[in-house]
Amino acid sequence: MSETAQLKIGDKTYDLPVIEGTEGEKAIDISKLRDQSGYVTLDIGYKNTGATKSAITFLDGEVGILKYRGYSIEQLAENSSFIEVAYLLIYGNLPTAEQLQAFEFEISHHTLVHEDMKKFFDGFPSGSHPMGQLSSLIGALAAFNPASLKPGLTAEEVNLEIIKLIAKMSTIVSWIYKKSLGHPVIYPRNKLDYVTNFMYMTFGQRTEDTEIDPVVVSAMNKLLILHADHEQNCSTSTVRIVGSSDANLYASISAGISALWGPLHGGANQAVVEMLQQIKEDGGDTDKWIAKAKDKNDPFRLMGFGHRVYKNFDPRAKIIKKACDDILEKLGINDETLEIAKKLEEVALNDPYFVERKLYPNVDFYSGIIYTALGFPTDMFTVLFALGRLPGWIAQWKEMKANKEPIGRPRQVYVGETNREYTDIKKR
Ligand code: CMC
Repeated sequence: MSETAQLKIGDKTYDLPVIEGTEGEKAIDISKLRDQSGYVTLDIGYKNTGATKSAITFLDGEVGILKYRGYSIEQLAENSSFIEVAYLLIYGNLPTAEQLQAFEFEISHHTLVHEDMKKFFDGFPSGSHPMGQLSSLIGALAAFNPASLKPGLTAEEVNLEIIKLIAKMSTIVSWIYKKSLGHPVIYPRNKLDYVTNFMYMTFGQRTEDTEIDPVVVSAMNKLLILHADHEQNCSTSTVRIVGSSDANLYASISAGISALWGPLHGGANQAVVEMLQQIKEDGGDTDKWIAKAKDKNDPFRLMGFGHRVYKNFDPRAKIIKKACDDILEKLGINDETLEIAKKLEEVALNDPYFVERKLYPNVDFYSGIIYTALGFPTDMFTVLFALGRLPGWIAQWKEMKANKEPIGRPRQVYVGETNREYTDIKKR
């Protein structure tokens, strides 16, 4: 018999169904509670509210587990490519060799963006943040794809928009970088795989024989895989809620990009590298900065440390730390900020302040060091996070549509003024 929770309000008792997920997570279904009792539930920041039932990503923050469609992040990061993981997230299963080839072929044939979109770049002031540019350009793709706005798109038509978005996102991201330098854009070379093509458009020369170092491609694949999905976080919830109004795919993803931008979410990777630079320029005394992070009268926090969900370790951080060592060694880079990061980690992990509060390095602690080693400026880091998160956002948007989820519309508890009489402006 299925479990039921009971809620007692005054002298009335309400039976609430208990839902159990495939990994044993339990939830009390309160969706009918207001109809039955007149009460809503209050959970500011949705800290303990399940917004959906999802079959895409599972994470257990207490023990540090992250899986996409049942596959561990460790196995995927070690063995897979970003495009294979994108297929897995969006379609639910790992592709066969033929399916992967067909997927890559289709993506590679939609990498061009409309030439008129290049005019947008002339309109952005020089030095404008790449995330502002990215959200605008992705939103604008809807205007350049009017077919995507048609009501009642078939599954094939939706799939075509998904392919186009994945393809054009990499071109747009690399062009944002090129334009920030004042350089001419590089057009895609479609015989290259997705990540190599992206790195070619970003760092390659305008010749056919430019080689992109496979070490760099492998590092980039790993970083994108580790960022590809993270269940119902701020940006993903935004994508689902915007999509629930029947807004088109491009508008929904553009909204997700804006949500990711904040320093409490995707913007933290930029903040970590800026912090490490600051410590380096200050002489590299890690004890001094640890003391600052612990001082409640000092607003400084150890960026890249702590996580709302992970309270043991962030499995992505473990993989990234190792990748960081490997890549810097392979590229022959001796980065002083990596040494500072390692020292900070060692001191923090042995300090009761951080131990008691369960503060561990998160995904952003080492990712910025790798991005820097690959040649990206700090203000591009969050754009790279968005490129990695794109398949997750698409998968979540598609799942929300397939489940025919109703429009997202939370309730509130009103705490403002009640009845006030309007007075003429001259009498106020
Ligand atoms: N440095 C110093 N103290 C910290 C830190 C930190 N990085 N993070 C948390 N604390 C302390 C905090 O002061 C509080 O102490 P006390 O209990 O004495 O008041 C305690 O730890 C709990 O902190 P909280 O802010 O209530 O925890 P939270 O779960 O609300 O916040 C967090 C999580 C990630 C926002 C926070 O740890 C933080 O600001 N970290 C630095 C920013 C960062 O790296 N963000 C990236 C998150 S991962 C990327 C993503 O998934 O979007």
